[in-house]
Amino acid sequence: MKNYEEFYHLETERLTLRTFTEEDYPLILRISSDPKTTEYLYYWGRIGTTPESDAKRFLDYAVKNWRKTPIRAREFCLVLKETGEAIGDGSVEWVEDEPGTAEIGWILLPEYRGRGYATEAGRELMRAAFEVMGADTVIAHCDSRNQPSRNVMERLGMTLREITPGARPAKRVGELNGDECTYAVERAL
Ligand SMILES: CC(C)(COP(=O)(O)OP(=O)(O)OC[C@H]1O[C@@H](n2cnc3c(N)ncnc32)[C@H](O)[C@@H]1OP(=O)(O)O)[C@@H](O)C(=O)NCCC(=O)NCCS
Repeated sequence: MKNYEEFYHLETERLTLRTFTEEDYPLILRISSDPKTTEYLYYWGRIGTTPESDAKRFLDYAVKNWRKTPIRAREFCLVLKETGEAIGDGSVEWVEDEPGTAEIGWILLPEYRGRGYATEAGRELMRAAFEVMGADTVIAHCDSRNQPSRNVMERLGMTLREITPGARPAKRVGELNGDECTYAVERAL
């Protein structure tokens, strides 16, 4: 990790990427309470969980991770600069068993989609992974049916590396697991 302090103040033209606090519970509960939003998310909406248990699990994880040194994983609350509204989540983390590889991800509340915010946040997360964390490779995962997320990855210049059958958990009893896409981009020389 190089410029540790810089990691606390990521921003883009329209967004601030800040630490999560306990006060973000309503935003997280809105995410976890919408089955369409959680449909293709890996850790959310699993059989046996509730929106409340998911929101609590995520917020505990997100808040605790900001206190850990050295940085392994960060969840950022995406905030619109113009209005101060919290609109979603962006994440970046080291991949445990792939040295030099960082993973990025994004979630937006439904009413903030279609305006390029996920791509804008993703571009900044990718920059931070390369320039602040010093990653050589940045990857992103999604369910193969999650076309909006695949579109974000492609807009960020990532290419499809592999599809892993059955690697995404089913969200309803009796459903089959989903297939997982891995997109990747290497550090420019
Ligand atoms: C994945 C997700 C974040 C993508 O959201 P999104 O709004 O489609 O992505 P962006 O914010 O980058 O917006 C891109 C869209 O805005 C449009 N757009 C408008 N203004 C734009 C701008 N200034 N810059 C870029 N795109 C812009 C693009 O044309 C594109 O529209 P299209 O999908 O009709 O082609 C969203 O679907 C989501 O939160 N899903 C649920 C959670 C989830 O599955 N997360 C991913 C887990 S792997």
